[in-house]
Amino acid sequence: MRLLGISGSPSRGSRTSRLIQEVLDATAQQADIETELLEVASSGAILCDGRPPEAYEGETRQVIDKVVAADAYVVGSPMYRGSYTGAFKNLFDLLPNDALTGKVVGLVATGGSDHHFLALEHQLRPLLSFFRAYTVPGTVYAQNVHFTGGEIAEETRRACRLLAEEVVRLTRAISEGQAGPAYPVIVRRPDQQKP
Ligand SMILES: Cc1cc2nc3c(=O)[nH]c(=O)nc-3n(C[C@H](O)[C@H](O)[C@H](O)COP(=O)(O)O)c2cc1C
Repeated sequence: MRLLGISGSPSRGSRTSRLIQEVLDATAQQADIETELLEVASSGAILCDGRPPEAYEGETRQVIDKVVAADAYVVGSPMYRGSYTGAFKNLFDLLPNDALTGKVVGLVATGGSDHHFLALEHQLRPLLSFFRAYTVPGTVYAQNVHFTGGEIAEETRRACRLLAEEVVRLTRAISEGQAGPAYPVIVRRPDQQKP
């Protein structure tokens, strides 16, 4: 199982990336799971410009292919103005519509306070639902008080372990690609489609 972490933070030393890594590390005892963390800020992916996903090249191509090839995900973003970052959204704009179909996703977010924890439900989860992914009902949210003294609070580490368990359990239980009816096909830019 290829379990890919995706961090939408533009910051170095990102707390969001640390939490996602904590979730990935919680699977370390399972020999058949390969983990990797993709940080959108250093990924080299360009801004989505409306061309079809197959037309991107270079580092952007590699990022798209890496996401498509993964079997399951732990995705997270810092709260920026009550939502995910622009960098996080850009990655998802680059992907083919079926990149995550029927795959399992664990959701993570960080913020400066508790004010925006529900953005996990009304921002991150609907974005993943668009891709017809299965999101784990429980999520990890941490804010300033959970990172005091440079350490992640024990309650947050426990939440990360629980999220890891459920991502793995659901991935093993679900046959990839089984996600019910598809949405109508969305043509991105009719003038830029290949003939
Ligand atoms: C531009 C900007 C907007 C932010 N907006 C919010 C916000 O709306 N709600 C919140 O709780 N925190 C907000 N924050 C704080 C970050 O979400 C918080 O510091 C987060 O843990 C940073 O994560 P990172 O270290 O992974 O980048 C904002 C920070 C920045 C830089």
